[in-house]
Amino acid sequence: MKVTKAIFKCSSERISQVPKDALRDIAFIGRSNVGKSSLINMLTQHGGLAKVSATPGKTRLINHFLINNSWYLVDLPGYGYARTSKSQRGAFSKIITDYIFKCEKMHFLFVLVDIRLEPQKIDLEFINLLGENGVPFGLIFTKADKLSAAQRKRSIEHYTTVLSEQWEELPPYFVSSSERGMGREEILDFIEKCIETV
Ligand code: GTP
Ligand code: MG
Repeated sequence: MKVTKAIFKCSSERISQVPKDALRDIAFIGRSNVGKSSLINMLTQHGGLAKVSATPGKTRLINHFLINNSWYLVDLPGYGYARTSKSQRGAFSKIITDYIFKCEKMHFLFVLVDIRLEPQKIDLEFINLLGENGVPFGLIFTKADKLSAAQRKRSIEHYTTVLSEQWEELPPYFVSSSERGMGREEILDFIEKCIETV
């Protein structure tokens, strides 16, 4: 898929505020600082679309970006960031669980994980929550430029082995680098098929 148009639509504090049209949401989530906003900018090739920050916890709202006038790319708040206010703390904030479980627009969720790290407890908890509730999701390994090809392979094999201990079927997964544009076509092609399926 070619991204010909990408515009910021709105930020929502609650799911009652998300766009009311029938267009589908493809959402991105993961721990703070994993590279969600960078990936959104890389996929859309719009440098300043989503705000990138070296300070974790930057994205606190549900941000909708309208792509090609036909679907929404959604930047969700990071989870697992402790230095937020009390009401926002807890493993997964209400805004996240409301969105992934109650929002009908939510069509597919990408969970981003840093390719350099051991599978993190909070990510595995989140993945299990999705699996148990039948939320359609895939994985994106981010920051692939930080490892060699051999290290990447080893890291992904390790991750999928850990997932296989819990799940018979592995989710679709992709390897990305926002620095190098790696994974862009594969992810966009997957999204294209995804928004066409009922
Ligand atoms: P929050 O919104 O705070 O939850 O963070 P986020 O997940 O949106 O992460 P963001 O895109 O803001 O990136 C966090 C940091 O990682 C920034 O310093 C980015 O420049 C860096 N980063 C993101 N993606 C990549 C990547 O593919 N490669 C490298 N080397 N750095 C990256
Ligand atoms: Mg962000």
